[in-house]
Amino acid sequence: MANTLLAIRELDVTFTIGKKQYPALRQLSFQVKEKERVGIVGESGCGKSLTSLSVMGLLPESATITRGEINVAGKAWSPGMGEEWNATRGRHVAMIFQDPMSALNPLMPVGKQIAEMALTHLSVSKQEAKELALGMMAKVGLSRINQLYGEYPHRLSGGMMQRIMIAMALICKPKLLIADEPTTALDVTIQAQILDLLREMNRSTNTAMLFISHDLGVIREVCERVIVMYAGYMVEDAPVQEILEHPKHPYTAALLQALPSIEKRGQLLYTIPGRVPPLTERGDGCPFAGRCPRASTICHTKTPELETCGNGHRVRCHLYAEGKIFA
Ligand SMILES: Nc1ncnc2c1ncn2[C@@H]1O[C@H](COP(=O)(O)OP(=O)(O)O)[C@@H](O)[C@H]1O
Ligand SMILES: [Mg+2]
Repeated sequence: MANTLLAIRELDVTFTIGKKQYPALRQLSFQVKEKERVGIVGESGCGKSLTSLSVMGLLPESATITRGEINVAGKAWSPGMGEEWNATRGRHVAMIFQDPMSALNPLMPVGKQIAEMALTHLSVSKQEAKELALGMMAKVGLSRINQLYGEYPHRLSGGMMQRIMIAMALICKPKLLIADEPTTALDVTIQAQILDLLREMNRSTNTAMLFISHDLGVIREVCERVIVMYAGYMVEDAPVQEILEHPKHPYTAALLQALPSIEKRGQLLYTIPGRVPPLTERGDGCPFAGRCPRASTICHTKTPELETCGNGHRVRCHLYAEGKIFA
């Protein structure tokens, strides 16, 4: 059995806006094991980015972890850890974002930025850092690396920049790579290449991956396990195949229904009616009740518990608790 690398337990994150408190993540609990590729899926506004920012210690100022535990490689986060957490987390977890341009320094050649990463975090000489950076650039599939080393970010395409970000993230051999919508801004063909690269890097470096996307089609390509989030809650967690074949939560079923496929070619694509409620409009009950075609009275008044249902499958839905069969 692989060891647990990231464990999040009963995590609550709350925004303070004016004098009011708004919960943004609720009772979030999941784990990522060493080498595992876990996806987080959900529409925009469901709390995917806040989840990754919580792990990275990069939450916005107005957000606070109000309850729960985050554990990275056996070390627990606690309030007020600040720099100490950054050191632990920095050693084990790296992150890439949707927009590589905003994460790169526009005034420094890209190769140098990768080398700086090695220089800061590994005990290597300048020359060794440059060699490591060039090696990493080759590994992430960049060509003409000697010339590219000295190029500035604005000269690169989006796909190349994302490769640079991946090289930068992996150069210090993190145990976990968090990728937040890393291909959302890219063309479809480039997106496929980057997904291939991430899978390949996971295989060759054994780096576990927490892959975040609003697109279940992308998650399906990359991950072994999927966490489905809705309005701050994890509503389902299961191996990818299990989710695709036996979705239990009506929200997951709706996401699947909205997925393009060969069978649905030529048909109008299903879209889930309604929208994710903003923080200010979240009340009691199941977070999905307002959009759920199967909601009953209890769904509007009582938040369902997370139930364990075998095959590594967990779901937060009254229908399951009541033993109702899923379509
Ligand atoms: N800085 C912020 N101030 C207020 N609300 C925020 C802030 N950042 C995120 N939120 C809210 O928190 C919720 C979750 O956001 P986020 O984690 O970014 O969602 P996702 O990544 O799934 O699209 C959303 O309702 C969003 O509007
Ligand atoms: Mg996001």
